[in-house]
Amino acid sequence: MSFLDIAKNRYTTKKYDPSMKIDNATIEKLKEILRLSPSSINSQPWKFTFISDAEMKKELAKVSCHNESKVNDASHVVVFSVVEEVKDFEKKNLSLLPERAGLYYNRVLKPRSKAEIKTWLACQVYLSLGFFLSACASMGIDSTPMEGIQCEEYDRNLQQNGYKTLFAVAIGYRDKEDENQPSLTPKFRLDPENVIRSI
Ligand SMILES: Cc1cc2nc3c(=O)[nH]c(=O)nc-3n(C[C@H](O)[C@H](O)[C@H](O)COP(=O)(O)O)c2cc1C
Repeated sequence: MSFLDIAKNRYTTKKYDPSMKIDNATIEKLKEILRLSPSSINSQPWKFTFISDAEMKKELAKVSCHNESKVNDASHVVVFSVVEEVKDFEKKNLSLLPERAGLYYNRVLKPRSKAEIKTWLACQVYLSLGFFLSACASMGIDSTPMEGIQCEEYDRNLQQNGYKTLFAVAIGYRDKEDENQPSLTPKFRLDPENVIRSI
């Protein structure tokens, strides 16, 4: 399938078939795809936690607001987290990067406020979300990106050490009758003239 066809067909799954599980080999590929995600100066300020354990999914479902049934019924939930402290990022990640990355960081990013640096770090994790959603669709896996979760409660359940939950993605296989699939609910997008400029 071309990338354009993948873009037309992927959608946010609202109802999963709980009997359908993603096989281990596919999960291992998804882990590797996430590890290979691009980021500014190759900063990689992330942690990706794959959850298939039913008890843990049940606990997370309780703190997933309107996403409760997706978390329970999907095959896996992947939690995307960002390194919590700027100083930890500077100590751990930055020290492993080539000198030019450190020079760029020190010149362009370090002078900014902590809040701005944290926003920059979170942006890198969001980039991996786009990469991941596209990868899932290309492999015939359905997905639901979820910001509508209680991130602090996720952190508590997962005992995140130095990382903070930003969002999660449920992955699995759709219920055949999921109303949100494009064949039943056509995709809505702004018209090209509203979002695309050519100069
Ligand atoms: C960062 C992000 C967070 C989202 N959070 C949720 C969510 O909590 N629950 C949900 O059902 N959909 C969520 N969505 C799905 C969007 O509503 C959806 O992508 C958008 O309406 C476009 O529809 P489509 O993905 O089916 O093409 C989220 C999407 C993104 C990118």
